[in-house]
Amino acid sequence: MGRFEGELLVRAEKVAGLYPDPRSAIIPLCHLAQEQDGYVTEEAIAHIAELVGATGAEVQGTASFYDMFKFEPVGEYVIGVCTNISCMLRGGYGLLEAASSTLGVPPGETTPDGMFTLEEVECVAHCDKAPAVQINYRYFGPVDSEGFAELVGQLRSGELDGQIPKHGTLGRVLRDAPPLIPVEEIDAERARQDGEREARAASREV
Ligand code: FES
Repeated sequence: MGRFEGELLVRAEKVAGLYPDPRSAIIPLCHLAQEQDGYVTEEAIAHIAELVGATGAEVQGTASFYDMFKFEPVGEYVIGVCTNISCMLRGGYGLLEAASSTLGVPPGETTPDGMFTLEEVECVAHCDKAPAVQINYRYFGPVDSEGFAELVGQLRSGELDGQIPKHGTLGRVLRDAPPLIPVEEIDAERARQDGEREARAASREV
């Protein structure tokens, strides 16, 4: 895996076609690559670069800015325990310790069976339910150590399959709509604005 294939290749080409400038599709295509492999592989970076007419370095440089993209394999479930202020005040550090002991790995590592990666995360905007836990970008709280162990048990048994998607999957609904404004109109507006900019620059030089 790595390069898009089959149905994912069709989706990737469609995503690239949604933007007047295909390079704008770098981020959604990285999400698609992560949906396929769980992380953004070097092969996926090269393929995305081909699809959008960029260099691999540009794709890597854009994607590496965002914490949500992983460049190394991660567990099937990426679990983030928040220790930011609200969660810290409501036992976030204790919960992180309990999570680490339940999973048997320290933050930043993956369980030997490849099922869970534990992370300590900054605020995930679930402060009113502190201390909060994020699992594959779905949110739970308030969670205590027993609740955490219960969640892990439910994940292992598949009980939460309908609620928590495969790692890397973000949207519940696929975007499948053309641009709201025809590409020709966008190009014409760009050309008009470029013309105005050049005219302004020329008048400053006189
Ligand atoms: S501080 Fe933990 S979710 Fe905001």
